[in-house]
Amino acid sequence: MLEKNINVNEWNPSSWIDKEIKQQPSYPDTNKLKEVEDILSKFPPLVFAGEVRNLKNYLKAATEGKAFLLQGGDCAESFAEFNADNIRDTFKVILQMAVVLTFSGGCPVVKVGRMAGQFAKPRSSDFEKINGVELPSYRGDIINDISFTKEGRIPNPKRMIRAYNQSAATHNLLRAFARGGLADLHQIHRWNLGFIKNNQLDNKYKILTDKITESLAFMDACGINSVNTPNIKQTTVYTSHEALLLNYEKALTRKDSTSGDWYDCSAHMLWIGDRTRDVNGAHVEFLRGVKNPIGVKAGPTMSTTDLIKLTDILNPENEAGRMNIIVRMGSQDIGKYLPKLIKAIEREGKKVLWSIDPMHGNTIKTSNNYKTRVFDNILKEVERFFEIHHSEGTYAGGVHLEMTGQNVTECIGGAGDITEEGLASRYNTQCDPRLNADQALEMAFLIADMLKKARN
Ligand code: PEP
Ligand code: CO
Repeated sequence: MLEKNINVNEWNPSSWIDKEIKQQPSYPDTNKLKEVEDILSKFPPLVFAGEVRNLKNYLKAATEGKAFLLQGGDCAESFAEFNADNIRDTFKVILQMAVVLTFSGGCPVVKVGRMAGQFAKPRSSDFEKINGVELPSYRGDIINDISFTKEGRIPNPKRMIRAYNQSAATHNLLRAFARGGLADLHQIHRWNLGFIKNNQLDNKYKILTDKITESLAFMDACGINSVNTPNIKQTTVYTSHEALLLNYEKALTRKDSTSGDWYDCSAHMLWIGDRTRDVNGAHVEFLRGVKNPIGVKAGPTMSTTDLIKLTDILNPENEAGRMNIIVRMGSQDIGKYLPKLIKAIEREGKKVLWSIDPMHGNTIKTSNNYKTRVFDNILKEVERFFEIHHSEGTYAGGVHLEMTGQNVTECIGGAGDITEEGLASRYNTQCDPRLNADQALEMAFLIADMLKKARN
């Protein structure tokens, strides 16, 4: 019998199930899927509601022009590349970039890793064809295997358990690094991974660390030290990933006992991808009900009507810190599409944080078939983003990058001058091309200049 007074707007962690859903695996064994969901739903949360609320407060400051969001990490984390050194090195690059942005840009930086859960990938095609053989596409290690075999590409729900365990260990290590001494500003010279030695970039970082070290000595002499000011020796790196695989996200969604609100406890912040942001779709339905800060990717096809609808649905109370619009239009197209979105948001009085993902709109294929991005195009899109916000009188509040602390050769250009031919030597990404440690640091210096100019 149909219940009376059903509230169509009622939300629960599974209410997305009745909606149209994109980019999901089709699990052959639904009993096994259910079993895994049950197991995951009993596992401890990976983050706590209080931490999520703290992040939201920092993002509120960024929305209001008082801070800057730095979000970065792998395109896709993998089971094979999971080790402490990789996590440490990404952590170090994030700290380095943050210190450059804080010191040169003169602005507090909110640090959010694309890590500890960034496994599921949307794909442009459901199938992949190699030498006449067609198999289901790889959808990220949380779903199936990257190896091009029939067995490997079958979605296996048990992979969610492994992804959870890896995410738990990654969160644990990030917290240890953040509190256990590595993030101490006195250690700033140790954060440099500097693969290219004695170049301009290396020197620039050295000059900055010398200045900071000198300031710390001065502050210490004045009685300001890490004993009475713990922020000198510790930090927080928050976590984020694309909330794509809703079976996983649902199982980690918990009701906070203090507020009675729902939080997706798989990460502090979640975002919706450019391919799954349909206003009537499952992903928007799921994320509207959790209180975490939410990112929405906005590519060239984002209309002003949809953007306003998305802010209405996802942020009905117009809370600053809740919504982050992650622009990813490409250096060529951003000038054509972004201004009208900003104007619409301003006209409607919506409180959103604008950040730029200069990676996903600037992907190209080389003649030797490498998916890559050119450093100068990435930079160009960030520059255009700042310029557009300047002319609209709005705040360019953050950057979202695919990057790693490793010395990879996946993007062309930058201080190390990686060439198209050079891509082959250390092209290790599981999915999209990332900035390496040097390219990421160089980008941070360039963004710091833009930020400084914008804030003056
Ligand atoms: C991503 O961030 O890895 C991604 C797939 O982005 P988008 O949804 O913007 O294409
Ligand atoms: Co990507």
